[in-house]
Amino acid sequence: MNTYSVLRKKIRDKSAVITVVGLGYVGLPIALEFCKKGYKVFGLDNNTRRIKKLKDGISYIDDISTEDVKKINKKKNFSATTNAGVLKLSDVIIVCVPTPLRKIKEPDISYIIDASRSMRKQMRPGQLIIVESTTYPGTTREVILPELEKSGLRLGEDFYLAFSPERIDPGNPKYSLTNIPKIIGGMDEKDTELGKFLYSRIIDKVVGVSSTEAAEVTKLLENTFRIVNIGLINEFAILCNKLGIDVWEVIRAADTKPFGFMPFYPGPGIGGHCIPADPMYLSWKARKVGFETKMIDIAAKTNRKIPNYVVKRAVNILKKGKKDVRRAKVLIIGAAYKKDVNDLRESPALDIIKDLMKRGIKVQYHDNHVPYLKIHDIKMRSRKLTVELLKKQDFVIVVTDHSYLDYKKIAGNSKLILDTRNVFWKNKIKGENIIKL
Ligand SMILES: NC(=O)c1ccc[n+]([C@@H]2O[C@H](COP(=O)([O-])OP(=O)(O)OC[C@H]3O[C@@H](n4cnc5c(N)ncnc54)[C@H](O)[C@@H]3O)[C@@H](O)[C@H]2O)c1
Repeated sequence: MNTYSVLRKKIRDKSAVITVVGLGYVGLPIALEFCKKGYKVFGLDNNTRRIKKLKDGISYIDDISTEDVKKINKKKNFSATTNAGVLKLSDVIIVCVPTPLRKIKEPDISYIIDASRSMRKQMRPGQLIIVESTTYPGTTREVILPELEKSGLRLGEDFYLAFSPERIDPGNPKYSLTNIPKIIGGMDEKDTELGKFLYSRIIDKVVGVSSTEAAEVTKLLENTFRIVNIGLINEFAILCNKLGIDVWEVIRAADTKPFGFMPFYPGPGIGGHCIPADPMYLSWKARKVGFETKMIDIAAKTNRKIPNYVVKRAVNILKKGKKDVRRAKVLIIGAAYKKDVNDLRESPALDIIKDLMKRGIKVQYHDNHVPYLKIHDIKMRSRKLTVELLKKQDFVIVVTDHSYLDYKKIAGNSKLILDTRNVFWKNKIKGENIIKL
């Protein structure tokens, strides 16, 4: 039997050993899902603290409960490790390492390069390698493949290579790993087929595309679509405010059109790893081929200004109330970049806090998902959301609309609130002290 048939057979009869490289928001759920289905899975991560937590049966990701990790540990088909030697024991390797931006807003694929080097050192014939880290089109073919080929093994005979972007949406109760259709594009049809066969063990719908480049850029189109529409609606919200129109009402009205409109909502700014970073991967690649992505650039610039706009709105409201801004006390409610997650990466709350502090304002924050945070040398701890704390504030800014928050209590005990998420309206709470973004 050739390596393709052997791999297929192993995937079918669940004797395939799977290693997930990088156990973060993306890698850990995938690793655990394959375990649940009965595969032997190694979770490889070079973060010793994360590995220790998993060994101790503790989750560090909101979407995975500690209960889940404990259950998997009992089943004994999951091993979390820092030892790259497990790559040699694996039939399938799934790469989920970070792909951040450098300071100059250019792609940083150093984690992908490191992971490729580790794989190259441990490769043996008969392996399927799938990359899930979001990246610019061409990374799999131009960067990963040449590194793997240095092993002397041949693509399509000894090993198979595909790219499959992850679409997981942390904190989303409706869509999780298994019911979000998955895209996969291989170096060749065989690579795509093997990848489709693998993922169809755990995911309801798997869609093949013709190349790794098509799969890579699909993810970038999805997040570019979001950054551009968020930029548009944020700009529209500022205009509506100047015109004295309630932007939220307008979006609701437009959303009654059954075709040709999809609602996007204004907010305190974009955050997380994906929306601020992914489109920059595309614009970087575009520049390499002499093309300017004007839409992305304008949207990114517009969105970057929003945290400062929120602060300016807050300051103007305080000034109108004849409050000495430098003596004002402001409470930020919600620090995570979106509701019901603990992810602080690129969170607009950080920019808002920094900007308020620069103006001499005394800032505190509350977020049960984020017990403490650090902005450069400023360290802060989340305050308990008591009636007393709310009453002491001159101003409250709701930055993240976590589900656990008691909005009635916030509305009933705060002097002034800037609601950047329209969350009070959604909870049917009215009050003259509530100002919408
Ligand atoms: N977080 C999301 O919602 C999301 C959604 C879709 C796609 N993605 C993409 O998925 C990828 C992973 O994102 P994430 O949020 O899971 O990142 P993360 O930072 O939460 O996790 C990545 C893990 O990889 C580990 N790692 C780094 N280099 C390694 C190496 N050489 N060997 C072993 N482990 C290594 C890190 O220690 C870390 O634990 C990124 O490309 C991201 O853009 C993320």
